[in-house]
Amino acid sequence: MKISIIGAGYVGLVTGACLADKNHQVIVVDIDPDKVDKINQAIAPIYEVGLPELLERNVPDLLHATRDLRQAVLSTDLTIIAVGTPFNGQEINLSYIREASQQIGSALREKSGYHLVVVKSTVVPGTTDQVVLPILEAASGKRAGMDFGIGMNPEFLTEGVAIQDFMHPDRIVLGGIDTKSIQWMKEIYTGFDNVPQILTNNKTAEMIKYASNALLATMISFSNELGNLCSALGGMDIVDVMDGVHKSNYLSPLQLDGKRIEAAITSFLEAGCGFGGSCLPKDVKALVAHGEKAGARMALLNSVIQINERQHQQMIYRLKKHFPTLEGIRVAVLGLAFKPDTDDMRESPAIPIINDLLQQKAIVKAYDPVTNREAEKRFGRAVTFCGSLESAIEDAQAILLVTRWKEFLRLPEIIRSRQPSPLLIDGRRVLDKTQFHFYEGIGL
Ligand code: UDX
Ligand code: UDX
Repeated sequence: MKISIIGAGYVGLVTGACLADKNHQVIVVDIDPDKVDKINQAIAPIYEVGLPELLERNVPDLLHATRDLRQAVLSTDLTIIAVGTPFNGQEINLSYIREASQQIGSALREKSGYHLVVVKSTVVPGTTDQVVLPILEAASGKRAGMDFGIGMNPEFLTEGVAIQDFMHPDRIVLGGIDTKSIQWMKEIYTGFDNVPQILTNNKTAEMIKYASNALLATMISFSNELGNLCSALGGMDIVDVMDGVHKSNYLSPLQLDGKRIEAAITSFLEAGCGFGGSCLPKDVKALVAHGEKAGARMALLNSVIQINERQHQQMIYRLKKHFPTLEGIRVAVLGLAFKPDTDDMRESPAIPIINDLLQQKAIVKAYDPVTNREAEKRFGRAVTFCGSLESAIEDAQAILLVTRWKEFLRLPEIIRSRQPSPLLIDGRRVLDKTQFHFYEGIGL
């Protein structure tokens, strides 16, 4: 199939590279000329495991990038919208969606033959039918359902394993205004055998995405709230508590051979210093705002956000137990990305943690295996960015582990010989607390 994708960010580019690898002819469109150039040289503009190999294999024969949206639409059968949908503080910002729809519609005016437009960006329920569809009709002068179709196909890509998630999906959700739209969309996924397909309308497809992310966010804030309670009450550790919870048959069913199948959701039932990323925070906020506009107050999800926005303070609180004033205290922040195996810093808990430290005049060094450059742009000279784990912690009085990078599991071995021993605050509870002289952890 000939496919154009508008927006070559994490979602658009991963989708494009994977579909090209499945033998579709793909054009990705982006307004950012650097991104376009890099893709056309088969260089990945973002860090995502497996992406360089896919680009190497498929550029230029099956995949190329352009800034020319009109030409991309005219030369393909199907256009996927994958531009960003940030939260603007009040509600979801649909301006990129509107702009993309407008331009696709103008191109469709010149196109003869049927075309399908698919929304992949995460958009609040109703957007595809009530925002995208009317803009496409007005700009193209054509009728949806007659001259072109519209579908909604949410992504369920987890950064770091996005390629794996795309190639081996747990489900494929296909919303559409009619059967023809859905039939065309199914073409994208030929070769994805034995994957459950949920065929529905656009609004339900949009909602499935929000419901999925809201559930994950709720699990995390639930675990964090309990972790904070464990700390406040003392004499117990959230890790042991959750281990007991995880052993329930709901979460890790015991099989007849005595082995357990651990449900992946248990990885969201662990306390930590908060969730970040381009999806969970903005999606929950957008859904709450959207609900409130419709007169549905969402008390639970509102709390999920509030708990998360305060959670990073647990790290500072633990630090201040040992250093009541932070002025002049040398602190190493380990991990800047919002989670491991990505260079993405969006909404990372590291950001408010570093801001708090700087505000209280601590001397901050930071290290992340991949994200240093992005962080340097954000914090400039206020923070010393280090090229290695060792250099980040060499003279630190306190070490804050914020992201679960595997490399940080080396900490016990590195710190063992250090005199005096620094304070280690484990924001992800990944280290063995018995290995450290001075250890603090979320939920301990
Ligand atoms: C995606 C989805 O689109 C978002 O709705 C979902 O919730 C999370 O994932 P993501 O791919 O992470 O967003 O966004 P980003 O990496 O910012 O990529 C968006 C791309 O679209 C950028 O490369 C940007 O340059 C491009 N863009 C944006 C356009 O090409 N045209 C525009 O008008 C706006
Ligand atoms: C998420 C969803 O997992 C994915 O299905 C959806 O399509 C997009 O949003 P992503 O944002 O890439 O993916 O990362 P995810 O692995 O879900 O982690 C989100 C955040 O939650 C990270 O900051 C992570 O550190 C945090 N997290 C996760 C916790 O704080 N505690 C946990 O127990 C699990």
